[in-house]
Amino acid sequence: MKRALAPRISTAHDQTTRPDHKHRTVTGTIRLEGVYKIFGEQPRGRALDLARSGMSKTDIQSMTDHVVGLADVNFSVNEGEIFVVMGLSGSGKSTAIRTVNKLHSVTAGSVWVGDVDIQTLSGPALQKVRRERIGMVFQHFALFPHRSVIDNVGYGLEVQGVGRHEREQLALEALGLVGLRAYAASMPGQLSGGMQQRVGLARALASDPEILLMDEAFSALDPLIRRQMQDEMIAIQRQLRKTILFITHDLNEALRLGDRVCIMRGGRVVQIGTPEEILTSPATGYVAEFVQDVDQGRVIRVSDVMVEPRPVVTGASLRSAVRAIGERTGSFVVNDHGHPEAVLTSADGIRALDDGSVDLAGALRTDFDRAAPTQTLNEVYASAGRGLPIAVVDGDGRLIGNLDPQDIMAELGRVESLIDGFEREVFL
Ligand SMILES: Nc1ncnc2c1ncn2[C@@H]1O[C@H](COP(=O)(O)OP(=O)(O)OP(=O)(O)O)[C@@H](O)[C@H]1O
Ligand SMILES: [Mg+2]
Repeated sequence: MKRALAPRISTAHDQTTRPDHKHRTVTGTIRLEGVYKIFGEQPRGRALDLARSGMSKTDIQSMTDHVVGLADVNFSVNEGEIFVVMGLSGSGKSTAIRTVNKLHSVTAGSVWVGDVDIQTLSGPALQKVRRERIGMVFQHFALFPHRSVIDNVGYGLEVQGVGRHEREQLALEALGLVGLRAYAASMPGQLSGGMQQRVGLARALASDPEILLMDEAFSALDPLIRRQMQDEMIAIQRQLRKTILFITHDLNEALRLGDRVCIMRGGRVVQIGTPEEILTSPATGYVAEFVQDVDQGRVIRVSDVMVEPRPVVTGASLRSAVRAIGERTGSFVVNDHGHPEAVLTSADGIRALDDGSVDLAGALRTDFDRAAPTQTLNEVYASAGRGLPIAVVDGDGRLIGNLDPQDIMAELGRVESLIDGFEREVFL
């Protein structure tokens, strides 16, 4: 039932605005190329030259009294991707997102929305792109207080000239996506903050834009509601596959939502990478500062930490089996099908040898845990706490890796030590 919603939104909408949805070219991409935005009396003057030479925002400000909003910003957002721009207050996030719908004109560089050089547009052509291709959700999403929820959601469609009946259909479907269909007739004032924010999201979705611009869309919500909205966002995105440029100052949110994350500082891009790349190889101390607050166990996967299995050779002596384990916590015994059946830990083996035993089978244990390679470290954390190696198995139950609790701890500690290695830098 739900799956039908998205296509229906597209089809109905296309009849009024785009002749043929199915045959349209790939347009849901965003690309910033060498973008500069200088605020001040003479944006194209000395301040721009200095920004081009690589001078910092702070220095340029004190020398020229101009504010660098963006300096040499380059990134592209792929079709269907959630691209998160993250940075501290004043780092240029909102300035960057506003160049995409030309709420800001750039000082230099270009901004592409699909194959449209958006900064060259003005008047009706710009309005058309804004209305039809781009949806926006901001932190304090101003709903019209005297319009019902459904009329708020249908507002963009109304502006596009979509008739009432069709508009209400589409608005209801968009409300369904955010779980608020039942509130269609309510007034915004009757909804909680989180619900209002959802109405804002529904409003952006109602005209079925290819691109969603979301600037701190969830930042005003309290943490639990915020978390819920993030989950909903992920679910909606799985269904709709929009190209989303999402702004946040919260790294946890960035890592949760982003396919890729772009970290900005002082108007410049510091690093672009997958959540995992950002966490495990922060490019600078600035990124590392962010990273230290983050729960890394959530993004690092079992497959990133597991080592090759090196199973116990059955038929070997207890002593040689223990020796083969080496520095590891333990090794698994696999059966003819490659399934792990038992584990020999180094500690059990050594204890048995100390007791004078030579019986390998007697030193084995079977109370080990299994994990899939795609699980996150957080998901296996409790298992790891038992101190036994975890058998990483494929879909058929075959042993493909050995996840050592020591390695989990080492990996989680690695970024922390990276951070310690950096001088604490002053922000901005
Ligand atoms: N209209 C403007 N006029 C002058 N300076 C501006 C304007 N808009 C933004 N700036 C400056 O540009 C810089 C970047 O601002 P921006 O709003 O992009 O920051 P941000 O990263 O979105 O911060 P926040 O997290 O607080 O929203 C800041 O130094 C800000 O003072
Ligand atoms: Mg901002």
